Amino acid sequence: MAGELNINAVRDSFTEALNGANSLQELDEIRVKFTGKKGDLTLLLRSLGKLPPEERKSAGQELNTLRDEIEQKLEQTGKKIRDAENEKQEISQRIDVTLPVKGRTSGAFHPVMQTMHEIANIMQGLGYSVATGPEIEEEFYNFECLNVPAWHPARDMQDTFYFPDGRLLRTHTSPVQIRAMLEYGAPLRIICPGKVYRRDNDTTHSPMFNQMEGLLIDKDVPFSVMKGTLAEMVNAFFGKSLKSRFRASYFPFTEPSMELDIECVECSGHDEHCRVCHGTGWLEVAGMGMVHPNVIRAGKIDPDEFNGFAFGIGLDRMAMLKYGISDLRLLFDGNVSYFMSGFQGEAE
Ligand code: DAH
Repeated sequence: MAGELNINAVRDSFTEALNGANSLQELDEIRVKFTGKKGDLTLLLRSLGKLPPEERKSAGQELNTLRDEIEQKLEQTGKKIRDAENEKQEISQRIDVTLPVKGRTSGAFHPVMQTMHEIANIMQGLGYSVATGPEIEEEFYNFECLNVPAWHPARDMQDTFYFPDGRLLRTHTSPVQIRAMLEYGAPLRIICPGKVYRRDNDTTHSPMFNQMEGLLIDKDVPFSVMKGTLAEMVNAFFGKSLKSRFRASYFPFTEPSMELDIECVECSGHDEHCRVCHGTGWLEVAGMGMVHPNVIRAGKIDPDEFNGFAFGIGLDRMAMLKYGISDLRLLFDGNVSYFMSGFQGEAE
């Protein structure tokens, strides 16, 4: 019988297709191919009417059986595929709690910030408080009050960025001295860490860098207290007793003025080719002096009653010296691994 032959052929090709089905999508394609509107089984069912009446009944029964079979097998295979996929997904998402933990890097202070905190801690231990001032500063505080009038050549050395209204990016943290004196009066002991700006940009100068200002105002402050304070600070910061020397210098806001050199932290003066001190054995680390009476007066304090000293330290340089950072540009680099290697363990 032609009908029977077709039925078996459809069953065989369905079985073969089903054996090759590996995904739900493939299974769906098989479903359409056999039971869809133009599917093989559907066409067979439609052709039933064309059979002679005596064959129709048994062919109809056979076709119904085949349809049930196909539907059942589609269902079973679908379940099998779904189960297998679920299991695969479950395995791939399973968390193996016995695996070793991957290395974890935690955040850390930037070396300059670290340095700032360390020096601030030391100074706070000596009774100093932290004061701050604006980075966008008035010319009056940045220069005028600090004994640097418009004609003064020191303005050239601290060339900066000006705003149309005459304000500027502060060139040093010294203006906070004036602001603090005006706000708190005397006696006074403050440090002021912060960013400063100059029109400088080469391998050893950045247009933005960090300073820390210090100011002590009291009655009859001797010169020796300034020397002792600065020496104490650098020794505590580097964690060892370093030789220091005070060199006469000039700053418009102090009189007399000095610069502090410390023994080279790298070679202690024993290496004439030292890359840090270039064989001099000394490192310049701070500017300081006894506060000029004009500056004390600008802070609305009577210089006949009070005197004191002030200093300024470059924090970037201190960080480079302590942490052995040889290139200023690394301080602006996002590569954390450089610091993590030599720096780890220093963070509090
Ligand atoms: N303001 C100076 C600078 O930026 C540093 C400095 C020197 C600050 C002497 C002081 C000081 O307070 O007394 O170069």
